[in-house]
Amino acid sequence: MSDHLWMHFTRLSAYADTPPPVIVRGDGPYVYDSTGKRYLDGLAGLFVVQVGHGRQELANAAAKQASELAYFPIWSYAHPKAIELAERLAHLAPGDLNRVFFTTGGSDAVESAWKLARAYFRRTGRPSKHKVLSRQIAYHGTSMGALSITGIPALKQDFEPLVPSTFRVPNTNYYRRPPSSGDTPEEFGAWAADRIAETIEFEGPDTVAAVYLEPVQNSGGCFPAPPGYFQRVREICDRYDVLLVSDEVICAFGRLGEYFGADRYGYQPDIITCAKGMTSGYVPLGAMIASDRLAEPFQHGTNWFAHGITYGGHPVGAAVALANLDVFERERLNEHVRANSPVFRGYLERLLDLPIVGDVRGDGFFFGIELVKDKATKATFDDDESERLLRGFLSKALFDAGLYCRADDRGDPVVQLAPPLICGEEHFAEMERILRAVLTEAWQRI
Ligand SMILES: Cc1ncc(COP(=O)(O)O)c(C=O)c1O
Repeated sequence: MSDHLWMHFTRLSAYADTPPPVIVRGDGPYVYDSTGKRYLDGLAGLFVVQVGHGRQELANAAAKQASELAYFPIWSYAHPKAIELAERLAHLAPGDLNRVFFTTGGSDAVESAWKLARAYFRRTGRPSKHKVLSRQIAYHGTSMGALSITGIPALKQDFEPLVPSTFRVPNTNYYRRPPSSGDTPEEFGAWAADRIAETIEFEGPDTVAAVYLEPVQNSGGCFPAPPGYFQRVREICDRYDVLLVSDEVICAFGRLGEYFGADRYGYQPDIITCAKGMTSGYVPLGAMIASDRLAEPFQHGTNWFAHGITYGGHPVGAAVALANLDVFERERLNEHVRANSPVFRGYLERLLDLPIVGDVRGDGFFFGIELVKDKATKATFDDDESERLLRGFLSKALFDAGLYCRADDRGDPVVQLAPPLICGEEHFAEMERILRAVLTEAWQRI
């Protein structure tokens, strides 16, 4: 049945004899499969569907734009929705991030930011600044440049050699912080930020162009920034003239209760990369939003940023993004997330009474639950156990129980939850109930 569909990040052997789940319809925070069974969408598709499924007004915005002007490039020409959306994003983005370079998704936004960083330093007389730092286990996309910046060895090994000149620094996993990295979150944050300075020094400040950080790191299971971390990183970037790229492909558009994650933690990036929630996934669209300073060299004479993508800033995507932002405003979704994040966290923290739940962490509507073999020692599962637990049992059991979410072991085993931003207490309670039953059974099977 699905012999011709090459599913992404999927072991095709898993579906050699059985068909994959086929999702045919969505309504609010729920999706339905081809047998009519309902699932709570605990991951907003893939951290995407912020306003929920089945919104007629987003479908209408797409249809209207497609009938008026389905396509035109933004190469030397413009169209009204791209102009309007760029202006709206520039107003929403922190500080002087006023230049919006549209892409089609996250990986090409991440690539674009690296290219801009290199071109900017070249055009301003520092051509040796080209290297990029990023954090261990962080995911920044799959195209060759973005994959080089990604910090997950298992995703890279089949594709080496990658683009050279990327280097890893520690992430902000407080639960598994190394000994001597500080006891309080503040001390740990300062320690982690200082590793960035150390790596810049080691590589040579004249060679480092940018550091890529997510406001809350997704991969590894939601690592929020400790208090003071981003302020210290900003100081370090200023000291060495290294660009701070806030990769907000997940964390923008309400995921943390703000339009942009940088505002949640009060720091000023030089570039924001974003995608996913910008259109709530009704149409693909992404962007790199750059500061006035970075755009400046490209505004004179024959200078240009020699980069572009056919579908970047697609008219239908831009029209849908504007309608999506209208929904955000009208329904006060950011306020809703801020008010309900503690309630969501509270439901998930109830699971800490289970022997298998070691840590609950995250922010906004974006949480990870780390599973452990021994809570006292924080001992994690070995590869075989992880395989049996996550692949063999958990993902499928959660799905069978009516909760679509993600069990992942790109770091230590975690279950991740990032539902549509319209969810409320009844949905948090539903997630807790299903997770409790399935994690209890998982513990018995280990
Ligand atoms: C932080 C981050 N950056 C980049 C990407 C890549 O985005 P895309 O899959 O749209 O290329 C992702 C995707 O999940 C992401 O989470």
